[in-house]
Amino acid sequence: MTSASAPGKIILFGEHAVVYGRPALAVPVIDVQANATVIENRLGTIRIETPGTGLNADLQALPPNHPLAAVTRAVLGALGIVHPPSFTMRIESTIPVASGLGSGAAVSVAAIRALASFLGCVMPDEKVNTLAFEIEKLHHGTPSGIDNTVVTYAKPVYFLKGCPVETFHPSVPFTIVIGDTGVSASTKESVREVRELWQADPARFEEMFDAVGEIVQKARKAIESGEMMDLGLLMDKNHSILQEMTVSSQLLDRLVDAARSAGALGAKLSGSGRGGNMIALVKPESAQTVAEALVAAGAKRTITTHVG
Ligand code: PMV
Repeated sequence: MTSASAPGKIILFGEHAVVYGRPALAVPVIDVQANATVIENRLGTIRIETPGTGLNADLQALPPNHPLAAVTRAVLGALGIVHPPSFTMRIESTIPVASGLGSGAAVSVAAIRALASFLGCVMPDEKVNTLAFEIEKLHHGTPSGIDNTVVTYAKPVYFLKGCPVETFHPSVPFTIVIGDTGVSASTKESVREVRELWQADPARFEEMFDAVGEIVQKARKAIESGEMMDLGLLMDKNHSILQEMTVSSQLLDRLVDAARSAGALGAKLSGSGRGGNMIALVKPESAQTVAEALVAAGAKRTITTHVG
């Protein structure tokens, strides 16, 4: 039997603009995890089980574009295995689905690693990342690749589409409270709608993407030099631009305002928006107060995570 796990993730800065070649910053959230276990069976078939969603099926019975069928075939293909042994792969995850916490990418990465090691191979991170990116395309259409990258490397990542992976290091640890709207939102949809708006008014959207790119550069410097007040202000600025891109929602705005009023240094939506999560940068001593304020303002759950 082999098993592997992968963390969730949040995008700190740069969502949406990252699809258009601007940089973004994302960090792993180790407080939530996807776990894959692979065990030999005597059924003569490959079985996929996800107890959380009630899936218990033969690989053959799943549609080819089912992410778990695709991930299984991708690993077998990458390893050149034509006649695999029969096995059962079970996926369990504590990462909320469709909420911007990278659940799809984490499931793929955990599955790739567990399966590769069951088949006797240690797959390098670069290969894991490439395969997970292929599966992300099934989930999200035209993903930038940021989710699979941060989940694979499980380190803070400065991400620029098409460039080698660059990790970065906070000079002092900082605390983020994540507030979940409980509203599932489709990344594919929101990315498509931004694309339509960009096509209708490229000049305005390019300007916003550039402004986000600048915020990302400043945010990286602030994180690397421990300037938390600056970092908070940059979050607020990034949120305003995301509002202008139309990807926020009333509930996300309410949670962002609630976090600021409860003492957060800054707050913004995180991920594709419309639903999903928002994040607030807090001093460790105000994490509890901010989390309570978020729940009072309508958050379905909060996660407090430490970066660095
Ligand atoms: O909703 P999430 O966390 O999967 O993030 C999507 C981030 C986008 O920039 C909107 C899309 C992408 O592929 O980078």
